[in-house]
Amino acid sequence: MARPLASVRDFFDYAVGEFSRAGLAFGQGATNAADEAAFMVLEGLGLPIDDINSRLDKKVSPAERGRLIALIEARVRTRTPAAYLLHRAYIQGVPFYVDERVIIPRSYIGELLASGVLETLLPDEVSSVLDLCTGSGCLAILAAQAFPDAAIHACDLSSDALAVARRNIAQHGLVARVTLHEGDLFAPLGDRRFDLIIANPPYVDAKAMAAFPDEFRAEPPMAHAGGADGLDIVRRIIDDAPARLTRFGGLLCEIGRGRALLEAERPELSFMWLDTEESACETFWLPASAFEA
Ligand SMILES: C[S@@+](CC[C@H](N)C(=O)[O-])C[C@H]1O[C@@H](n2cnc3c(N)ncnc32)[C@H](O)[C@@H]1O
Repeated sequence: MARPLASVRDFFDYAVGEFSRAGLAFGQGATNAADEAAFMVLEGLGLPIDDINSRLDKKVSPAERGRLIALIEARVRTRTPAAYLLHRAYIQGVPFYVDERVIIPRSYIGELLASGVLETLLPDEVSSVLDLCTGSGCLAILAAQAFPDAAIHACDLSSDALAVARRNIAQHGLVARVTLHEGDLFAPLGDRRFDLIIANPPYVDAKAMAAFPDEFRAEPPMAHAGGADGLDIVRRIIDDAPARLTRFGGLLCEIGRGRALLEAERPELSFMWLDTEESACETFWLPASAFEA
């Protein structure tokens, strides 16, 4: 008879085995079976998710055992991403509530906000930030932390997503600093201008969307759909940005793999590509001055 699952190590090994055997898809927070298993076991036990090694020998109670088995079984059977099963995702160690109304937070912009690189590209005083396509509100919250003196505005076309963003903003105690707007890109923002605009818009092309595994189909299609070549919304953001930036402001936008297309279409714009630990040439920076003829 198989040995009962008794410790964090047992559950971690069990989950890695089950996830690998089932051929699950990853990339929504964790990029492989081991990272997904570590996240599920630690978060499922209410433990910090940063270091599983120091907790491998921790014993698991009967109640915890039942919960972990149910989570692992649901991940394999339903192909639901771990973050939805646990209602939790992290960027840069900052926790966010998530459910199927929002894409699971994993934007490279999170790392760029935390790294301090934007402070070197912007004027000393950043008093206003816009997070376009805010989803769960994750980037608006990270921007509020990075720029403590700024008023943050965040917009999304999905009222469902905004309900999740509202919850996260309240949980982070930022109701007084982050204003949510519902509508199409800049449309609900009146004539405001911003020192910093950040955007992680939908940018998946139609072919890639058609090939999505179940895990990615569980996310709202409108969080991914960027039209035939993925750049429909990115183009609109670039077109409208000059009228929305303050004189020394700038636009930071994540676009996936569309660099060559964009540079060929807009040769007059000097895109600066900001790389992160896990991305190269997927996020551009354009200062307001780049739009001056
Ligand atoms: C890739 S998700 C990014 C969410 C969040 N910023 C993040 O990084 O996790 C894109 C978001 O854009 C929203 N969206 C799609 N089309 C939009 C539009 N035309 N105007 C405003 N928001 C839009 C979607 O509802 C979705 O929440």
